[in-house]
Amino acid sequence: KVLSFIRDTNAIVKDNNAKVAVLGASGGIGQPLSLLLKNSPLVGELSLFDIAHTPGVAADLSHIETRARVTGYMGPDQLNDALKGCDVVVIPAGVPRKPGMTRDDLFNTNATIVATLADACARNCPEAMICIIANPVSTPVPVMWFEIVMKKYGVYNPNRVFGVTTLDIVRANAFVAELKGLDPARVNVPVIGGHAGKTIIPLISQATPKVEFPADQLSALTARIQDAGTEVVKAKAGAGSATLSMAYAGARFTFSILDAMNGKEGVVECAYVRSEETECKYFSTPLLLGKQGIEKNLGLGKLSAFEEKLVAEAIGELKGSIKKGEDFVANMK
Ligand SMILES: NC(=O)c1ccc[n+]([C@@H]2O[C@H](COP(=O)([O-])OP(=O)(O)OC[C@H]3O[C@@H](n4cnc5c(N)ncnc54)[C@H](O)[C@@H]3O)[C@@H](O)[C@H]2O)c1
Repeated sequence: KVLSFIRDTNAIVKDNNAKVAVLGASGGIGQPLSLLLKNSPLVGELSLFDIAHTPGVAADLSHIETRARVTGYMGPDQLNDALKGCDVVVIPAGVPRKPGMTRDDLFNTNATIVATLADACARNCPEAMICIIANPVSTPVPVMWFEIVMKKYGVYNPNRVFGVTTLDIVRANAFVAELKGLDPARVNVPVIGGHAGKTIIPLISQATPKVEFPADQLSALTARIQDAGTEVVKAKAGAGSATLSMAYAGARFTFSILDAMNGKEGVVECAYVRSEETECKYFSTPLLLGKQGIEKNLGLGKLSAFEEKLVAEAIGELKGSIKKGEDFVANMK
């Protein structure tokens, strides 16, 4: 989809000059994500920020014969410059869990990183579309932090802050295509809810083209999509989690945002956003994207009985993680 997108839009984006920042550009996700963005004619300037190694990553990418101008920024002192004038900011920054670190330590560290980046975005590019890959997306903390910090500066726009869940959609498309012998590039499975375990709800009943599975296969497929991250962690055997597929998914989401900003109509992506579609304040559903970000939340659509049950279970869990996120935020103040 990324490559066909590039071919399709080559003509219409001739004058497009979007400035896209990647925060966490030297990481396992950040590097291949930056490569995919550098390969796109939608990007006029690629601003790479990290606390380490960005000069090398930027120098390397800058030798690629595509038009995006690449600049590298390293360390907190250069964060403001990296963000000035950005149209889109993609955030795969974070730290992986290290030996001796509890889940709460990891949560605190990553949330603090996101809070710092949110503050810098609010000051330097308040109008930018914010695409958050960094965990914990499973709890609403990153999306919530952006809301709180941007409100503090009076620049919050819920239509422009996205928790990127595209990897769940990408995986659902790949797995359905594999089972049905379809071209994965033509399969589209909406995935709603949250971004962890049981809160990930693939809507196979709404897939295009239409597909059907016997009940046991549908349960196994749903479980595989929900647990696909573990499949990668196990296969990498201690060498990290999903990075290449996440980079692809992050690039796909960014291209859709840029496409919509360029005036293309009918661009739809699922993402974890401020929502009024369910009892959960934050929920992922298909979104119609436009020049100003979310144009319309397309909601949950018609669910099968199986999917309704999954949604009911997910809402309980999501409300718990939203509460955990709110408590965390309250304690940080
Ligand atoms: N949304 C998803 O579907 C999804 C999927 C996989 C991983 N993730 C998350 O994405 C994040 C990145 O994963 P990764 O595998 O690339 O990790 P990584 O450790 O390889 O890379 C993270 C990068 O962030 C940088 N960084 C740390 N603190 C920073 C700061 N304050 N400012 C800017 N950069 C900073 C690090 O230097 C590093 O280069 C993690 O939080 C991971 O849990 C999300």
